[in-house]
Amino acid sequence: MQLAPRLPAHGAEIPAIGLGTSGIGDVRAEHVAAALEAGYRHIDTARKYGTERAVGEGMRASGVPRAEIFLCTKVSHENLHAAEFARSVEQSLKALGVDYVDLLLVHWPEKNTPLAETMGALAKAKRQGLTRHIGVANFNIAMLDDAIRLCPEPLVTLQAECHPYLDQSKVIAACRARGLVLTAYCPLGRGRLRGDAVLAEIAKRKGKTFAQVALRWLMQHGIIAAIPRSSNPERIAQNLDVFDFALDDDEMRRIGALRRADGRIADPFGRAPTWDV
Ligand SMILES: NC(=O)c1ccc[n+]([C@@H]2O[C@H](COP(=O)([O-])OP(=O)(O)OC[C@H]3O[C@@H](n4cnc5c(N)ncnc54)[C@H](OP(=O)(O)O)[C@@H]3O)[C@@H](O)[C@H]2O)c1
Repeated sequence: MQLAPRLPAHGAEIPAIGLGTSGIGDVRAEHVAAALEAGYRHIDTARKYGTERAVGEGMRASGVPRAEIFLCTKVSHENLHAAEFARSVEQSLKALGVDYVDLLLVHWPEKNTPLAETMGALAKAKRQGLTRHIGVANFNIAMLDDAIRLCPEPLVTLQAECHPYLDQSKVIAACRARGLVLTAYCPLGRGRLRGDAVLAEIAKRKGKTFAQVALRWLMQHGIIAAIPRSSNPERIAQNLDVFDFALDDDEMRRIGALRRADGRIADPFGRAPTWDV
């Protein structure tokens, strides 16, 4: 059975491929169990997704020991004041049926809540043993630096949208410079990469699929963990099978050149920060 390599960041060891679980009703316990049985050791959920219960059930059904699984959940932007934050973490652990997660993230920044209060609540969850590691999602680089400065515990990851259609070179460089793993969400462009001519041509030459080529391109940056979502057992297994081939410099460059101005998918009006492009 294949396992993804683990990426180090400030004491964390983050498996480079994880299972995304957003899309309520789509990803069920059986898919989580299938992923773990196929060799996944990293599962991404969030209070907001409504999939924590299914993730917990899938983990237990898989028989994979809890200690081997890197489990991430997130606190939504409505719950970033200290008291609500603590309540949200408690609800997550209850829904998951675990007594700790491996990674707890602030899901989106929220400009009306003082960042210092949120970072204090995040660090407190770690110090209470409710999470092993902490990080943020959807922060721009300036906000990430504020978060690092204000947080009494080290952050290990920035979770951000990242795939070949979106230019995230500044964010990748920022994570590298700060010793963070970039956790790439929508790594398959939420399906939009399907049918891309460049990915298809490289995939055909390598005997791989467009999805495997896109994930491999992320892996070769060396500091990126990707969390593709699938509710199809074959595609779940396929998305982990990206460690037996390599893209050469020209292929990396051609895939990097697919970036486009309208490449961003997750851009909620009113909540998104000014992105680094
Ligand atoms: N922090 C945040 O704000 C944030 C935002 C968005 C997402 N996320 C996280 O990131 C995860 C991934 O992002 P996402 O779910 O939006 O998009 P994604 O993983 O880029 O794409 C998912 C889509 O790709 C399809 N797919 C998966 N593997 C495939 C393969 N090998 N070949 C062909 N199609 C394939 C899936 O369909 P099938 O199910 O039919 O395979 C699904 O429609 C989420 O589930 C969530 O955990 C976080």
